[in-house]
Amino acid sequence: MRVAFLGLGRMGVPMAQHVLKAGHELVVWNRTPGKAGDLVAAGAQEAKTPGDAAAGADAAVLMLFGPESVRAVLPEVARDGLLIIDGTTIGPEAAREFGRLAKSKGARYVDAPVAGSVEPATAGTLGVLAGADESDWADAQQLLHLWGDPERVRRIGPVGSGSALKLVVNQGLGVLAAGLGEALLMAGQLGLDREVVLDVLEQGAYGFTVKQKRELLAKGDFTATRFSVDLLAKDLALAVNATRDADLEVTSAALSAALRTIEAGHSGEDYASVIGHLADEGEANSH
Ligand SMILES: NC(=O)c1ccc[n+]([C@@H]2O[C@H](COP(=O)([O-])OP(=O)(O)OC[C@H]3O[C@@H](n4cnc5c(N)ncnc54)[C@H](OP(=O)(O)O)[C@@H]3O)[C@@H](O)[C@H]2O)c1
Repeated sequence: MRVAFLGLGRMGVPMAQHVLKAGHELVVWNRTPGKAGDLVAAGAQEAKTPGDAAAGADAAVLMLFGPESVRAVLPEVARDGLLIIDGTTIGPEAAREFGRLAKSKGARYVDAPVAGSVEPATAGTLGVLAGADESDWADAQQLLHLWGDPERVRRIGPVGSGSALKLVVNQGLGVLAAGLGEALLMAGQLGLDREVVLDVLEQGAYGFTVKQKRELLAKGDFTATRFSVDLLAKDLALAVNATRDADLEVTSAALSAALRTIEAGHSGEDYASVIGHLADEGEANSH
């Protein structure tokens, strides 16, 4: 297969490596040049535009920031006969819009956001939550299995359904981060020792987040980014806006915590900065 891969961010690069390793021809593109070095050294070609990357390809994979970035490149990419796999987290409404746009140009579109971060992307063990027409599923799986754990590559339903579930998943991530930050703020105010508190929380409801982010919290340095606070804010905003008839108060509070963390200067850092910002900077403000 000849595969175009668009978007060489933290997730895109390791995912694209799997395309090469499987022996497919790979053409890559990134908005900002200079990200393709390792892939080109491993045998990929670099295209100057999204359209050039997709020309002559059997499939195109998008791994961009969010719906706006997909909207910026998809019209140039979609063309007759192309299978488009969109790994970007974009929400269900945008996925359906992009599905229609692709179809109008004779292309097939599958939304396939991923669960897991840079390490599973590198290992090829991501979860994949896909929305696809049944008739496209067999072909889509050939690509999705390159970076996904076969047991966790799932077709949730039609186009848009994978993106809907992905927002539900990341709602949890964001609420846990904000909740843990506030729990640590509260613990500090109550005069409790941070390490003892984390030892106990690690065994309870916050266990997942504490285990993943304890090292960064101990350092108080969130620049070793895996999933950025900017991506979290994007996903929580998509979640809040995805439901018209429900007021998602808790999700909105988590979104505002992420936005306050960005405003405080943590843009580009790991989303664990939300925990640190609420716990420590909240504490500083209270003195
Ligand atoms: N990181 C994670 O742990 C993780 C886990 C699961 C899902 N995801 C999702 O996977 C996607 C990629 O995540 P990531 O961590 O790889 O993000 P990232 O490192 O921030 O990379 C974002 C990519 O999008 C490109 N981009 C941004 N705006 C664009 C625009 N307007 N037009 C064209 N390209 C644009 C960037 O290009 P430039 O280099 O030019 O900025 C870059 O290649 C996101 O949707 C994210 O929510 C991430």
